Amino acid sequence: MTEKISRFFEKSRKERLDIVERMTGLTKEERQTLESLGGIGFEQADKMVENAIGTFSFPLGIATNFVINKKEYLVPMVIEEPSVIAAASKAAKIARLCGGFSMNNDESYSIGQIQIVETDVESATKKVMEKSVQILELANSKSNTLSKMGKGAKEISCKKLETPSGKMLIVELLIDVGDAMGANVTNTMCEGVAPLIEQITGGRAVLKILSNYSTRRMVRGTATFDKNEVGGEKIVDNIILAYEFAASDPYRAVTHNKGIMNGIIAVANATGQDTRAIEAAAHAYAARNGKYTSLTKWSKDKDGNLVGFIELPMSVGTVGGIINVHPMAKICAKILGISSASELACVIGAMGLAQNFSAIRALASEGIQKGHMRLHARNLAAAAGATPDHIDSIVEQMIKEGNISINRAKELLNSD
Ligand code: MEV
Repeated sequence: MTEKISRFFEKSRKERLDIVERMTGLTKEERQTLESLGGIGFEQADKMVENAIGTFSFPLGIATNFVINKKEYLVPMVIEEPSVIAAASKAAKIARLCGGFSMNNDESYSIGQIQIVETDVESATKKVMEKSVQILELANSKSNTLSKMGKGAKEISCKKLETPSGKMLIVELLIDVGDAMGANVTNTMCEGVAPLIEQITGGRAVLKILSNYSTRRMVRGTATFDKNEVGGEKIVDNIILAYEFAASDPYRAVTHNKGIMNGIIAVANATGQDTRAIEAAAHAYAARNGKYTSLTKWSKDKDGNLVGFIELPMSVGTVGGIINVHPMAKICAKILGISSASELACVIGAMGLAQNFSAIRALASEGIQKGHMRLHARNLAAAAGATPDHIDSIVEQMIKEGNISINRAKELLNSD
C-alpha cells in the first residue's frame, strides 16, 4: 500500500470509500456494510448486552499518512470529537518525512491474580513456588487453543500485601495470550487453579481475576518531526516547555494524556477493543511513580528536530471478543491491514504519539481554537455543497468576516 493520498478530507464519501476499497481490497459486502448505519442491528445488540432497546452509532473516519515500522497504514478511527482525525493525519504527514513511527512492544502476557487469605504468607509462598509446574499445568489444561500454539500460562509469582485485615498472598499467573485480549482465558485459568492453590497453601481464595494493569504488554516508540515542518525552532522549544509542564503538573498531565487517549481510544473503538481496560491501565501507568505524569516525552535531536517518545500498557486483541462479532470492527481491522495483536498495539501507540504531537503543537503556537474554527468552516462549506475548487475561498471569506455558518456558506457559494 504505497499509494499517496492527497486531500482525502476534500473528497466525497464515495471517493473516500473508493480509495479505501482500492487500497485495502474490501469486498462488495464489506463496502455495503460500511455504507450501512453502524454495522449491527437490534438482534445482534440484544445478544451483546442486557435490556437492549436499540443501537447508537458514532462517526467512523480514516486517518491518512501513517507510516509505522516502515509500513503504510490507513487508520480507522471512531470518535465524536472534531479535529482529532485531521490532527492525527497532519502529525503522521510530518512524521513520515523523517521515516514515520518506530514502535515495538512486549510479548502479549496477561496477568491473572488469585487472592489468598487466612494463610501464613511466607510459607504459602514457598509452597506455591515449589508446586509452580503443577499449577501451570493445571492452568494450561483450561485452554487447548493456547496450549496447541505453545502459548498459555508461563510463569507464577507471589507477592505479599499488608492490609487492614492482615497479610494476604497474591498469586500471579503470567499468561501468553497471543493475539487475544485474553480476559476470558485469564479469568478461566485463575478460577481453574484457585482450588489447587487453596489446597497447597491451606488458605482461602477470594478473588480470581485478570489484572487490567497490563505492564507485561507495553508498547513504546518514537518519531521525529522536522523542525521546519513543526513551525520553526521557537515552536519546537515551546512544545518541549508544554511537555515539561505536563511532566511536572498532574492538572496539565491529565489533559495532555486526554489528548493522547483521543487517538488511542478512537482506534481502539474502531477495532472493537476493551477501551476501559486500555484507559485504566494507561492512567495507572501515568501514576506509576506516585505522581500522575505525561505518557509521552518530548526532546530535540542534535539538528534541533523534535523527537517524541510514548510508552504505555496496551492490551488489545485481534481474535475473540467484539472483533469476532461486530462486522465494522472486522472491516476496520482489514482496512488497517494488521496481522497480529502486536501490530495493532504498535499502530495504537503511534496514534497516541501523533495525537499528542498535534495537540501540543497547536497549543504551543496559535492555540487550538483557530484550527477548530477552520475545520468547522470547511465542514460547513462542504455541507453547503461547495466542491473542492470552491471550499478554500468560502472558508477564507467566512473566517475573514467572522461569520462561520451554513447560511453564509450557502450565500457565498451562490454568489460565486
Ligand atoms: C482536547 O480534546 C484535547 C486537548 O485538550 C489535549 C491537550 O490539551 O493536550 C487539546
